[in-house]
Amino acid sequence: MNILLTGASGFIGRNIAAVLSQAGHRIVPLSRQTGIDFRHTTAPANWLPSLRGIDAVINSVGIIRETRQQPFAPLHRDAPIALFTACADAGIRRVIQISALGADETAFSAYHLSKRAADEALRALDPDSFILRPSLIYGRGGGSAEFFLRLASWPVIPLIGDGQQALQPVHIADVVACVRRCLDSPAPGQTIDIVGNKTVTFAAWLERMRAAQGLGPGCTLPIPIHWVMSAFQYLRHVHPLCQPDNLRMLLKGYHADPAPLADFLGRAPLDFSPEFFFLDAQEALSWTTR
Ligand SMILES: NC(=O)c1ccc[n+]([C@@H]2O[C@H](COP(=O)([O-])OP(=O)(O)OC[C@H]3O[C@@H](n4cnc5c(N)ncnc54)[C@H](OP(=O)(O)O)[C@@H]3O)[C@@H](O)[C@H]2O)c1
Repeated sequence: MNILLTGASGFIGRNIAAVLSQAGHRIVPLSRQTGIDFRHTTAPANWLPSLRGIDAVINSVGIIRETRQQPFAPLHRDAPIALFTACADAGIRRVIQISALGADETAFSAYHLSKRAADEALRALDPDSFILRPSLIYGRGGGSAEFFLRLASWPVIPLIGDGQQALQPVHIADVVACVRRCLDSPAPGQTIDIVGNKTVTFAAWLERMRAAQGLGPGCTLPIPIHWVMSAFQYLRHVHPLCQPDNLRMLLKGYHADPAPLADFLGRAPLDFSPEFFFLDAQEALSWTTR
């Protein structure tokens, strides 16, 4: 297939491109480096020239922190809706949107609400489309995964409150495998939560990451949640992940049943294994078939 991939330079996009190219697809990568800026492609007409000769479109553009230069509205909502409208006009057979776990009826953050708006528009425009909602993704090269690996290696590991927040991390290989399956699935028109098989606490997740780096058990420092929230008011300018809304989303916790993903993939999501923290999608997928 000829596949237009937005966000091709990102963590998810790079992994999708590598695995789908290997599988024989022709990837047409788009990103700001190739001249496509979502802030300025908010009309369907902006997209139509890029869709000539394209069989499938995957949108993996996204940001975790909005700034004045990079607001959520054009990146997560307006440009994707323009792209999906152009896809409907051009008769593109398969459209796959990378959304996020929690971009559903319970959404409250600007991040999730902007993602949900695009997802809803896509469902209405194209009943055969796929909307994939990944949980926290780990694997080599992931921005958040590398941040947490670093945090886990500190001699004293700060915890948010008691560190018992629930996570359901998923490997990038399962995200990419799901995208690959969407391309030939005989059952289109699905919204799939891409979550790991097991739920772990934030503290246990950091402990696993620490052990995977060959380090012994760490000393943890529980920090009251309202202190962390106050600190995030300043840290939000320092690191994209340290946003007050990201903390609220972590505290809310998101859980989804992994069974629909397992049904769709024909296998269970990958189990945690220390080496998987350091593997990209292609490496982890070949590891699973050994
Ligand atoms: N990673 C996770 O754990 C995770 C979990 C759930 C959902 N998601 C969602 O998945 C999507 C991708 O995540 P990721 O981890 O791959 O993020 P990433 O590594 O930061 O990549 C983001 C991509 O978006 C592109 N982009 C940013 N601003 C743009 C703009 N103005 N115009 C065009 N492209 C722009 C970047 O391209 P440039 O090279 O031009 O910057 C890059 O290719 C996001 O929507 C994210 O919310 C991620």
